[in-house]
Amino acid sequence: MSLDAAFARAAELDANDSLAHLRSHFDIPEDVLYFDGNSLGPLTFRSREVLHRTIEFEWRERLIRSWNEDWLAMPARVGNKIAPLIGAAPDTVIACDNTSINLHKALMAAVALRPGRTEIVIDINNFPTDIYIAQSVADQHNMKLIAVTADEIIGAISERTAVVTATHVDYRSARILDLAGITAAAHANGALMVWDLAHSAGAVPFNAAEHDIDFAVGCGYKYLNGGPGASAFIYVAPRLLAESGQPLQGWWGHSEPFAFEVGYRPAEGISRFLTGTANVLSMKSLEAALHVFEGVSMQQLREKSVSLTSLFVELAQEHLVDKGFVIRSPLNANERGSHVALGFAEGKPLVDAMAAEGIVADFRPPDLMRFGFAPLYNSHVDVVRLINRLSLH
Ligand SMILES: Cc1ncc(COP(=O)(O)O)c(C=O)c1O
Repeated sequence: MSLDAAFARAAELDANDSLAHLRSHFDIPEDVLYFDGNSLGPLTFRSREVLHRTIEFEWRERLIRSWNEDWLAMPARVGNKIAPLIGAAPDTVIACDNTSINLHKALMAAVALRPGRTEIVIDINNFPTDIYIAQSVADQHNMKLIAVTADEIIGAISERTAVVTATHVDYRSARILDLAGITAAAHANGALMVWDLAHSAGAVPFNAAEHDIDFAVGCGYKYLNGGPGASAFIYVAPRLLAESGQPLQGWWGHSEPFAFEVGYRPAEGISRFLTGTANVLSMKSLEAALHVFEGVSMQQLREKSVSLTSLFVELAQEHLVDKGFVIRSPLNANERGSHVALGFAEGKPLVDAMAAEGIVADFRPPDLMRFGFAPLYNSHVDVVRLINRLSLH
């Protein structure tokens, strides 16, 4: 397909896109083509308005009264807005901290639930923070960290395994891991499963309840568009909540924080996974951005995401592969998340040059260009413009 024909087809796809109107919620500069929502989602108009109101009214006017009037309830309220996006029941998700800290809490809780077991299994290609955190948990318990490729995870799980952890969508290749198979293998061996949903939440469906997931964690600033440093989240299966403890016991996780008791008594539900004071401003921005998801199903988002990445892959095969670009994401859309990775020797200077022109993507060493296609605001015409620019190289 020529690029002219591709533009015409993309325009038709956009005209029939039932989610196209959602782009109007985002304040993306006119001269920017944005393909990095898998790293930092853009600003919503609503986040700006809510932050303004929070600063001018809740903070400036209401001052300390705002804690009782609104802020204390935020972690649970925001958690409940994230829950449907990851297929979780109400009151099983809470917004707090960042993904690294939540992963630490989940892994520590899981290891405590499996005393006597000596191994933690992890995807060796996981995002580095996941490996660092898992290594620290293993070291603290004198356990062994078994780091293997995604295809080797199931074979590495045994009755020695306390917990298995992996990222649902690989941060480099966008490959979707075998959620059902890996979780079932962990459970069949009596181990617990912790999924990192950093590259899933808001773009790729995940069903925590249906797959009987034990723990999951994820980011608020990527496809959820919460803003830089937005709160992350943690999910804990209801069947584990009562017996789960977490290592960072703090007053926000106490059953009665304002009783100021000397002894720690964990809250009944998911609140026990809180530690200290919520980051109100970033949580406000995240809550406002989550409003865009209301009335939109994950299935609709997935269909649009697949349509965008499939168009990119098809055009990359025709226009980029003969110029030295290598497609490093799965060609089968069912196995691919919401970004596409291209290997290219001169990837770093090309990503930098494009950013200077307002076409924003990202680069991961040694040679990987990543293009995030967010179904809430990217269009098919955006995809063809991107291919057009890359093909000029
Ligand atoms: C898969 C994955 N896990 C964890 C993180 C880190 O999250 P945080 O900085 O919130 O700890 C990232 C960041 O990009 C990531 O891609």
